[in-house]
Amino acid sequence: MTGRIAVIDDEAPNRAYLQTLLGTAGFDVQAAAGGNEGVALVEKERPDLVLVDLMMPEVDGFMVCERIRKGPAGADIQIVVLSVLDELDGKVRALELGADDYLVKPVESRELVTRLKVMLERGARLRQRGAQARGRLTVVAGAKGGIGTSTVAMNLAAMHAGGKGGEAVVLADLAVPVGTLGSMLNIEVPDRWAWGEVLSDGVASAHRLSNYLMRNPQVPLRLLPGVRRDSAYREIPSVAISSFATSVRGLAETIVVDLGNQPSLFAPPLLREADVILIVVEPEIIGVELTRQFLERLRETGILSHRIRLVISNAHGSLQLSRTEVAAALKMEVAAMILYQRDEFSAASKRRMPIVIHHAQAQATAQFTELMQALAAV
Ligand SMILES: Nc1ncnc2c1ncn2[C@@H]1O[C@H](COP(=O)(O)OP(=O)(O)OP(=O)(O)O)[C@@H](O)[C@H]1O
Ligand SMILES: [Mg+2]
Repeated sequence: MTGRIAVIDDEAPNRAYLQTLLGTAGFDVQAAAGGNEGVALVEKERPDLVLVDLMMPEVDGFMVCERIRKGPAGADIQIVVLSVLDELDGKVRALELGADDYLVKPVESRELVTRLKVMLERGARLRQRGAQARGRLTVVAGAKGGIGTSTVAMNLAAMHAGGKGGEAVVLADLAVPVGTLGSMLNIEVPDRWAWGEVLSDGVASAHRLSNYLMRNPQVPLRLLPGVRRDSAYREIPSVAISSFATSVRGLAETIVVDLGNQPSLFAPPLLREADVILIVVEPEIIGVELTRQFLERLRETGILSHRIRLVISNAHGSLQLSRTEVAAALKMEVAAMILYQRDEFSAASKRRMPIVIHHAQAQATAQFTELMQALAAV
């Protein structure tokens, strides 16, 4: 990568040396001859990194650090102080005022170039993550158990991961009282509900949550594992769940949540937060009736139907109603229909793989493709 670097040094030979060295190393370098001029240059040009000398008349390196950090360009920029002073108080002060690093001169040219490269690369990675900080959140829920809700969530996530790569997709298991995605994906989830502690602390940042993501190397997605039986999820204060619902978006570009079928503490904030709410419905009389009631409850809580989509899942082959009949009963289009496919689903289940990965040619894979396309339009 090529980074943009601003050099701030009052001594012309130092500036010339750094400009040549860093320019040759492939950086785009600009220089300023003093603190005031340097801060102005940084605010105008917004470089990726600032290399600043400490001892300068009038506005010295400490003041430069402080002013850049507090100024309009200050949040993302990296600041490295270069100084002949090898003294603890000065180092601490520079770091406290916002420097990211403090290097004592003379620095070997190769070391300096490498250090700056590493810092710039790390900065680019962090920025990329920041840009993804509001991933797209799809919440999958059913009005009834055992109808394929988890299967739909898992395959939808796997489908996204197939296109974008595993780092881009997180599947979050929020079904209660017990999440099943760990066993469905052959990922051994700890007995203790691991990330519950993040919620109890009330600070569920995306960064902290990401430490709990797990994966099966054969499946290109990351799993936020589910609640295990007897975990104290009911005791989590609702403000903590709300902050979790916001931070869960920061986990990836695409987040798919299995909300299960039981009313839970996770449901209200996640349904409010979701970009798409996918309701799984079994094409039989009782299932449709329960779904109708569920949709009504959603409407009562102020959730607008433009974010809601329906998918028919015929997990038991108990088909009684056609796609048109389901749509008519629920007064809503059906986005896709996952038909009963006993042998294909059995094979994928035994291998503990999403069918769209285990059997890309399966009819179900085409049906999940249709579903994904319909949801992309929401
Ligand atoms: N279209 C399908 N054809 C055949 N079998 C299916 C289909 N969809 C899901 N299944 C199977 O049905 C079973 C239940 O699926 P799943 O666990 O996804 O349902 P669920 O609604 O999440 O259930 P729970 O209430 O236990 O969370 C699984 O064995 C799954 O492989
Ligand atoms: Mg389930």
